[in-house]
Amino acid sequence: MNVEGRPDPYQKVDTYALAVAVFKDEKADSGFLKDLDAASGGVVKSAIDSDEFKGKEGETSYLHLPRGGSLTAQRLLLVGAGEKADYNAARVSEFAGTAARSLRSKSAKSIAIIPRLEGDPELIVARATEGAIIGLFEIDKYRTRDKELKVIDRLVVLIEGADKEALKRGAQRGQIVGDSVNFARDMANEPGAYLTPTNMAERAQAIAKEFNLTIDVLDEARMHSEGMGSLLSVSRGSDEPAKLIILKYTPAKPANENGPLLALVGKGITFDSGGISLKPGENMELMKYDMTGGATVLGAMRAIAQLKPPIPVLGVAPCSENLPSGKATKPGDIVTAMTGKTIEVINTDAEGRLILADAIAYAKKLGATKIIDMATLTGAVSIALGDVNAAVLGTDQELIDEIINAGREVGEKFWQLPLDKEYSKQIKSDIADIKNVGGRKAGTITAAAFLKEFADGVSWAHLDIAGTAWGDEAKPYRAKGPTGIAVRTLINIVDRASRSE
Ligand code: BES
Ligand code: MN
Ligand code: ZN
Repeated sequence: MNVEGRPDPYQKVDTYALAVAVFKDEKADSGFLKDLDAASGGVVKSAIDSDEFKGKEGETSYLHLPRGGSLTAQRLLLVGAGEKADYNAARVSEFAGTAARSLRSKSAKSIAIIPRLEGDPELIVARATEGAIIGLFEIDKYRTRDKELKVIDRLVVLIEGADKEALKRGAQRGQIVGDSVNFARDMANEPGAYLTPTNMAERAQAIAKEFNLTIDVLDEARMHSEGMGSLLSVSRGSDEPAKLIILKYTPAKPANENGPLLALVGKGITFDSGGISLKPGENMELMKYDMTGGATVLGAMRAIAQLKPPIPVLGVAPCSENLPSGKATKPGDIVTAMTGKTIEVINTDAEGRLILADAIAYAKKLGATKIIDMATLTGAVSIALGDVNAAVLGTDQELIDEIINAGREVGEKFWQLPLDKEYSKQIKSDIADIKNVGGRKAGTITAAAFLKEFADGVSWAHLDIAGTAWGDEAKPYRAKGPTGIAVRTLINIVDRASRSE
């Protein structure tokens, strides 16, 4: 899709359709809507006065423009933008996603959108662009029929009077971010048979090559010599070897030679059957997306490599299958992590924390001083927070606040759960240092308490995205399936850090 930001008035925009954000209960008798109504031969006021459109979030009204009017576009889409007081750059993304999806369904090929938010035009165009690109993603690549064949090939974001260079930069940034979010979503959607740990490493190699990141992929022999008994205990049951992907972005001119080294660490279980502690069959097919944390890291690194911030970033993705076999780790087995800690494996289905333990330790060995890990780690997080908020926990309150705030700016919600030291009692083992399951109570927290054992000495936060990584239903602004949660937040964190350095 070709994307452009333009400072022109909307009347003469040369696209087939024009989409406009309309606020809740906004009237067509004054201001912007009055002018739009006059230019469109009265269809706007008629739609609003007839009560068929109220401006609620996600609502749309598709209008044919009379010939001979003063608009060049042939179709007008009113898009509900909700309460005007809450409208912000994050909501502009949703507006753009809704507009793009809705107009594609009407076979529009070229569209212009008017976000109607005051503020930094570069930021607004970026959010609108990424929202449209994310909105147009579909998970039907393996369908041979009933596939979405309609394509929008041109998007114009209109911000009247804005600086042309700023609009251009915004459109470029938005494309990088939107494409990177969809890159992660596409991976999350891949069947386990296609996206093995080896294939995941190949995809990482491809982005490293395309966008100039350094890459190192540890095979199982190297994991052995690093002492990664925890990670290796998970891949034992599988014929597919585990891979530990390390990507590094190094800025040409760092803002600060002695600044922190941020590492993004993501769980890459390409299929989670539960292992010997086999999961029930219902919904097991969804466990192909258990590598979403790893995909999120690759997606964020892909964007960071192109946005070129002045701070270095490490991306770490431990990748493995979790399958039962005659070689598989058994409940009751004891494994030794890279740090030397011994772990009693109570349940082989609590495998995410086992691979992350060694990945976090290795990120520290590579010099990371600040670590954000992300994982589809616990079913318990869906019970606690549903599919609305992802959980954030950690040892550095400043980093946690930074994640929550950076998320809010891009429309991704994180809710902090407590991590008091009392919870660590639940993962004490009688026969080893710790065990990998903390019982039924506070499952998301005890999983984080387990990871905390490996994140000492650094600033650390953990995101549990098990409830938010997969959308069971489509939204007006997004298809159902993988959501891309956290990719935009991580990119924004790096962006914000580079501004403050
Ligand atoms: N990958 C799952 C968590 C999960 C569940 C993600 C549902 C997405 C949807 C994880 O490896 C797991 O199996 N966790 C167990 C832990 C338990 C054995 C302590 C769980 O949550 O049931
Ligand atoms: Mn599991
Ligand atoms: Zn898992």
